[in-house]
Amino acid sequence: MANGLDDVVAAETVLSDVDGAGGHLTIRGHSLTELAGHWRYGQVVRLLFDGFFDELPGDGELEKAIGSARVEVFERLQPMLAELPALEIYSGMRAGIALLPDGDSLADSLRLIVAPAVLTPALLRLGRGEKPVPPDARADHANDMLRMLSGTASPALAKALDTYLVTVCDHGLNASTFATRVVASTQAGLTSAILAGLGALKGPLHGGAPGPVIEMLDAIEASGDAAAWLRNEIARGERIMGFGHRIYRVRDPRADVLKAVVRRLGTRYKTGSRLAYAETVEQAALEVLKVAKPQRSIETNVEFYTALLLEAAGFPKEAFSNVFAAGRVAGWIAHAREQQATGRLIRPQSRYVGPVPDLVA
Ligand code: ACO
Repeated sequence: MANGLDDVVAAETVLSDVDGAGGHLTIRGHSLTELAGHWRYGQVVRLLFDGFFDELPGDGELEKAIGSARVEVFERLQPMLAELPALEIYSGMRAGIALLPDGDSLADSLRLIVAPAVLTPALLRLGRGEKPVPPDARADHANDMLRMLSGTASPALAKALDTYLVTVCDHGLNASTFATRVVASTQAGLTSAILAGLGALKGPLHGGAPGPVIEMLDAIEASGDAAAWLRNEIARGERIMGFGHRIYRVRDPRADVLKAVVRRLGTRYKTGSRLAYAETVEQAALEVLKVAKPQRSIETNVEFYTALLLEAAGFPKEAFSNVFAAGRVAGWIAHAREQQATGRLIRPQSRYVGPVPDLVA
């Protein structure tokens, strides 16, 4: 038995399909490249939610409702915010989300959609001893997230962040989405389901990788020899962050989308100057991995260029997984609703391999 559930089909979904051999991602009938950079995050939320809520408003109306939800969540959680920066930024966000009502309505969903985007900038600012910037209900979602972080948002960075949120909005039955669906199948509310997704996303084998990518780039630069550094890591049994994937046997298509975004940002931002260096590290890593792990096709995954994009957007590396959650939460909610609609509890079996009791009386 494969203890990573490799190749096990545990759900039917209309939401997204990951083609690991071809390197394609389909989200509700659209290819990733059709959506990323062309649809706003609010539009993609509507695409994912379509059919899972009665009376879902049109794009414009839903985006307005998302704006109002940002204000509502900020006002609701503001009294508790001062307590949360004592925690790590990811745990602080998760603790804030745990304070939201645990229902299944569209209003509950919109509060959850906006919560990472509202909490992360507020907690980062409080951690730096600054006052949180309240949300602007009329602003575009990504633009407002940057404005809450830095007080202003350049159109180029807002577009880059919007493209990022769309790129990571859903991705088949990844570990955090599966965790979300398991909890949703028990008929616990959406907040409980999202907290499960958040727990799974945090780990470095999943959504916790982009922060360590920055640490790796810094360490390699300091070492002066990328290939030697990478070979040494593998010899020590470490994994190279931002490479490898359970499903993709070719390059993760999201990596190319995000790399193009970073390239478009140019050299105005810190990351611009990092890009050329990151490309040489990427090349070295692919070559080292090919030699060290010839039995496995290990390619660049989404997290490598995520790190550069989010650094350019002004987020510290400790908060990268929070921003991942701000995008993925849309997919989690849609999957939770899809799972709830089946009415079926997810409850697999284990095979007992432990000692048997002594049956002699
Ligand atoms: N660096 C070094 N070795 C690797 C890497 C890597 N990044 N990825 C896989 N391997 C090796 C393993 O060590 C193992 O080698 P072995 O057979 O000699 O023991 C072999 O490849 C197979 O490993 P598995 O864990 O079975 O591979 P899987 O495809 O399930 O792993 C995973 C996927 C967990 C993402 C892995 O590639 C990894 O740890 N990557 C680094 C962390 C990372 O980038 N995470 C983000 C993933 S994308 C996302 O979740 C959004």
